[in-house]
Amino acid sequence: MEIYLVEVFDYDLVIVGSGLAGLRAAIEAARIGKGKLRIAIIAKNQLMRPHSISAEGGSAAVLYMDEGDSFDLHAYDTIKGSDYLCDQDVVEFFVRQCPIDILELEHWGIPWARRNDGRIAQRPFGGHSYPRATFAADRTGFYEIHTLYDTLLKYDNVDKFHEQFVYDFLIENNRFRGVVAFDIPTGQIRIFKARAGIVATGGLGRLYGYTTYSHLVTGDGLAIALRRGMKLKDIEFVQFHPTGLVPSGILITEGVRGDGGILRNAKGERFMEKYAPTKKDLAPRDIVSRSMMTEILEGRGFKGPGGLDYLLLDFSPIGAEKIKEKLSQVREIGAHYVGIDPLDSPLPVRPSAHYTMGGIDVTHTGFTGVTGLWAAGETACLSIHGSNRLGANSTSECVVFGKVAGEDSAKWLLTNSNSVDLSEGDKKYAENFLADAYRDKGDYDPYEIKRELWTTMDKDAYVFRNENGLTEGLKIIRGLIEKSGKISISEKGNVYNQNLIASLEMKNLVELAEVVVKGALERKESRGSHFRTDYPTRDDDNYLKHTIARRADGALNISYVPVTLTKWKPEPRVY
Ligand code: FUM
Repeated sequence: MEIYLVEVFDYDLVIVGSGLAGLRAAIEAARIGKGKLRIAIIAKNQLMRPHSISAEGGSAAVLYMDEGDSFDLHAYDTIKGSDYLCDQDVVEFFVRQCPIDILELEHWGIPWARRNDGRIAQRPFGGHSYPRATFAADRTGFYEIHTLYDTLLKYDNVDKFHEQFVYDFLIENNRFRGVVAFDIPTGQIRIFKARAGIVATGGLGRLYGYTTYSHLVTGDGLAIALRRGMKLKDIEFVQFHPTGLVPSGILITEGVRGDGGILRNAKGERFMEKYAPTKKDLAPRDIVSRSMMTEILEGRGFKGPGGLDYLLLDFSPIGAEKIKEKLSQVREIGAHYVGIDPLDSPLPVRPSAHYTMGGIDVTHTGFTGVTGLWAAGETACLSIHGSNRLGANSTSECVVFGKVAGEDSAKWLLTNSNSVDLSEGDKKYAENFLADAYRDKGDYDPYEIKRELWTTMDKDAYVFRNENGLTEGLKIIRGLIEKSGKISISEKGNVYNQNLIASLEMKNLVELAEVVVKGALERKESRGSHFRTDYPTRDDDNYLKHTIARRADGALNISYVPVTLTKWKPEPRVY
């Protein structure tokens, strides 16, 4: 292997991540920059293959006020769904912006599904009191990415870099100066010097073994932010999507239940009637996931492989015509992964790690507090999801706040002409970091560490949590962090070195796992996705507050900041 700096690129704005938030940010920055800003968008995968393409069911927006929907209703549903941990002022902005950005995608060519009257179709989704998930069959994210990428091609001052592994941000005196990456096909170092940056690398879902997330999503931006002393907010809140396909965990969209599908236990009962008498199968995800695990733990599930006991998702009430038209991808997934066509038989499902409600603590425009650095999408925590996100609010968040971050950063760049410099020290640092990553420092196998992490998180930080499990989990994770510094990488080549990538991703994951589990241990209440069997009720007196995690002098510190309430007072969550 040879390690050396190949190239220093010089941009005004570098966007890390090409999912919905990153692409939308790039379009907006290019539009506002009117050719005056040099922009780079870089991704760990091919730019057209971010995890966002896995989004299936829809994007929330109030489109039909003339038929009964309203901004207040969308805001209320979101806030109640969040178990009152949203910042309500940001939610109010978000719900007003969603229709504008959803219609913008329509103008850019997305094939939204239509109703018989020709207007855009929307399907019901969990926790929403109006059918407001705007969709393109069950491939919504795929079409959104293609539409955004097509639109980005209109701007010729945006350079696109595929297969770049970003391993650090250059920050000095709280000023962002660029990112350090290696080019995955050649293993050579590249520095993307930039006056501003937007981090949009997604969530941290691959902390878990049983998950809907693709293997790409290893919390890279979040882990770098943590190491760089930035604040992570509400990270203990991880969403488990009720219908992960057993045994892979792959997403079976909530659109199935939105279109009429129902969950059944091993006795054939529609058990959700018992837990959420009004919303039933379309209660918010935290409630459906807990209800499912209660059924399983009380013995009304089916025995599954490797302890993945499961329930059934029955498509039959939907009808064959509608399944073929609106749910063609989940049909393919069923046939391909478990040999079941849901037209004929129900699919085996159980809750699967799906979404990171927390993220880098940012202002309403995505500003991180580091001069010149913004975050957007799942990487950012704007506090619009609180402790439990409603389905279809995430893809909308990415387009709404990707655009906001693109606009804010571009305007800042146009009014601040100050440049950033690199030193020889930066270049040496980039080389040393990578050389150190290759070096054998012990006998531990990075893949083994990751497997142990998955087992621990799937067991101790899943739908139900408690003091003993979290304490034991934290001990194991701290041991894994220790081991992650004593690994060997068997593959030493430069070209597509998957061992190197896996070891860097594993380090990111174990460090983030500590934040999830420590935050969960210290939050001695149950709220949204975070359910403590030893503290089973919500405690607004002591915990109606956001968690802030920050690493300083090697220690991980947890503190809290208030939640912004506007007009919705916390009330019991009944569905
Ligand atoms: O079920 C789904 O289609 C997932 C949507 C979401 O997470 O918003």
